[in-house]
Order: sequence, then C-alpha cells, then structure tokens
Amino acid sequence: MAPNLTQYASRITGTGSAFPPHRLTNEELSQRVETSNAWIIERTGIQERRIANPSLIQERNSSLGLMAAQRALEMAGKTAQDLDQILYATCTPDTLIPSTACWLQQKLGANKAWAMDLNAACSGFVFALATADQFIRSGNIKTSLIIGGDILSAFTNWSDRSSCILFGDGAGAAIVEQVPAHSDRRVLSFQLHSDGNLWELFHIPAGGSNQEVTPEVFNSKQNKMQMKGKEMFKVAVRTLSDYAVFALESQGLTLKDLDWVIPHQANLRIIEAVAKRLNIPMSKFIVNIESFGNTSSATVPTAMDLSVREGKLQPGQLVLLDVFGAGLTYGTALIRW
Ligand code: ACO
Repeated sequence: MAPNLTQYASRITGTGSAFPPHRLTNEELSQRVETSNAWIIERTGIQERRIANPSLIQERNSSLGLMAAQRALEMAGKTAQDLDQILYATCTPDTLIPSTACWLQQKLGANKAWAMDLNAACSGFVFALATADQFIRSGNIKTSLIIGGDILSAFTNWSDRSSCILFGDGAGAAIVEQVPAHSDRRVLSFQLHSDGNLWELFHIPAGGSNQEVTPEVFNSKQNKMQMKGKEMFKVAVRTLSDYAVFALESQGLTLKDLDWVIPHQANLRIIEAVAKRLNIPMSKFIVNIESFGNTSSATVPTAMDLSVREGKLQPGQLVLLDVFGAGLTYGTALIRW
C-alpha cells in the first residue's frame, strides 16, 4: 500500500551549536591583508569569526557537529540510540570518503542511524531539513539528526582581502521528529531551487575529480574559494526577498504573519537590504554574523539555536528560514515553531 503522506509531519524538537574557540578579529586580519576594522564592519557587519585548527581532532568539522548534536539531543530529551538518520549538510567535509556524517555517526555511537552528507553549500541546512521531512512524512523514519557544519577557513584564500574577511567555522544541529500531520507545531512547507548556470559566482576549481591539487594549482590558489562578491550580493538580495514572499503566499499567509526570519548570514548589508525590500523591521531578523561571520551551512542552525536558547523563539511562532548559497542554491522553510 502506498504510504499515507498526510498522516505525519515533522517538528524540530532540539537545537545545538558549536564553534572552535579561536577568535580571529578584524584587527588581526588587517595585519595580514590591506584592510581595516572600520571597512569590514561598515561593508559586512562582521567583527570577528571563529577559526578551527583541523590538526586538533576536537576542532574538525565532524567534531563540531558532534558537540552541536549532543546539545540538540539533550534539548530534545533523546539519545544517539534514538536516531534513525543523520544528514550532514557540508561543502567542506572532513574527508571526501568517508562522509562527515559517517565520521559523526561513529563519534556519536548512533548505531541505528544511516548517515550521509548533502552538499548544497550555504543552503545545506534547509535542503537537509526538507530531506529529513520527506523521510519522516513517508513514515520511513521517526527521528533525524540534521547538521549544517563547515570549515570554510580551510578553503579560504587568506591573501584575497575581498573574501577572507567574510568566513568562519562552526556547526549547528537540529533533532527532527515525527508528529501527527495536523500538529500545531510543525514544519509547514519548503521551497528548494538551484541554478547551476550561476556556478561561477562562487566555486572552488580544484580539489575534486576535475583537477587534482598539483604544486602549480596550490600556488595559484585554485584549490581555494573564488568569489564574485558584487554579483553574489545582488543575487542574494533578490532571491532571499523573492522566495520569502513565495513561501508565505504558498501557505495563504503574508509577510506580516511572520514572527522571525532566520536568513543565511553572508553580509549584514544583504540582510538589511532584504529587510528593506520586504518592509520587515530588522528586529524580526535573527542575526549572529557580527560574532561568527559567514559559516556557510552553519549560519541558519546556529542562529536558530541561539534564538531558542535566548528565549526569543517561542512555541507557536511563525519562522522563516531563508537561504542562498553556491551552486547556486536557494530555498526557504516555513515553520510553526
Ligand atoms: N578592505 C578594504 N577594501 C576592500 C576590501 C577589504 N577587505 N575588499 C574590497 N575592498 C575594496 C575593493 O578593492 C574596492 O576598491 P576600489 O573601489 O578601489 O576598486 C572597494 O573596496 C569596493 O569593493 P566592492 O567589491 O565594491 O565592495 P563591496 O561593498 O561590494 O563589498 C563584499 C565586498 C564584502 C565581498 C560584498 O560584495 C559581499 O559581501 N558580497 C556577497 C558575498 C557572498 O554572499 N558570499 C557568499 C556566497 S555563498 C556562501 O555563503 C558560501
């Protein structure tokens, strides 16, 4: 018999986040490249970011994911044994093989869970939430652990002042559980989109199967992130704004119904431009970019966790996760918290 997709829904019951301890300030950056604290704050809103040291086992991507997962499990009142699935959204895996999700499964001892990585760059957490939701609604699984975790510092060109000021490392986690379909508190809808034509706005040319990292490639930094910042900025403002409207319209709601927007945090000016375009006050946006920079797939789950732990996000409130990233990828998730 075909599964009854209207029988179940999913709900986020726990959140967690973790960052490496080392803080890299704008002042320190201005000793490495020609920039200044004032320029970085004015043009990006970023004051500092956290940088991992992957030679320390506890600061690897999956180790940050582990800390975030343990905090999320504790909040949800679950143990690793309760997990059926682990989805790890990342574009900076510990290793290409095995997946970061399998590294995490091993560290967590989540023996019953099947685990895989998912790469939608900065949009990854929303893509992972949508994937978990499908498995939960189909009745295949009851409990999923989703992680957005990235170590962008490993792929940053530290001599390119227009990009190295933006990025940091971290991981955020959520426990997603099965609830009855018409529960008040649940994930309401998703919108996922990709446009591979715009790959050139943000990419890493070498290090995959296309091109190995030879000494020449290494010296020319082709194994590091290449970004067209201005173009990315414009696409980000347009997609974050447009898909926010589509997400609400698809549910017969309006922007006025929103309690919170948790956007991808790439640049504070992008978020301010979206707020202006949508005529939503900045006070409704959850922002943590000043302390952590752009942590890719980790920006949304870590900002979400922060707002839960600060008591901002309250049961019954309407929350929009609104993301864009390399690929390009875009998307939203609308949640009745
Ligand atoms: N310090 C001082 N001056 C700088 C710096 C710096 N760190 N970086 C650039 N400049 C200079 C430029 O050289 C330029 O000088 P010029 O006028 O003499 O040519 C001037 O500042 C203005 O440069 P712009 O590129 O116009 O600066 P802008 O205001 O656009 O800011 C930035 C650049 C911060 C990169 C911005 O475009 C941005 O944030 N774009 C979006 C990036 C993004 O979203 N990336 C992530 C995408 S996917 C993911 O999240 C992983």
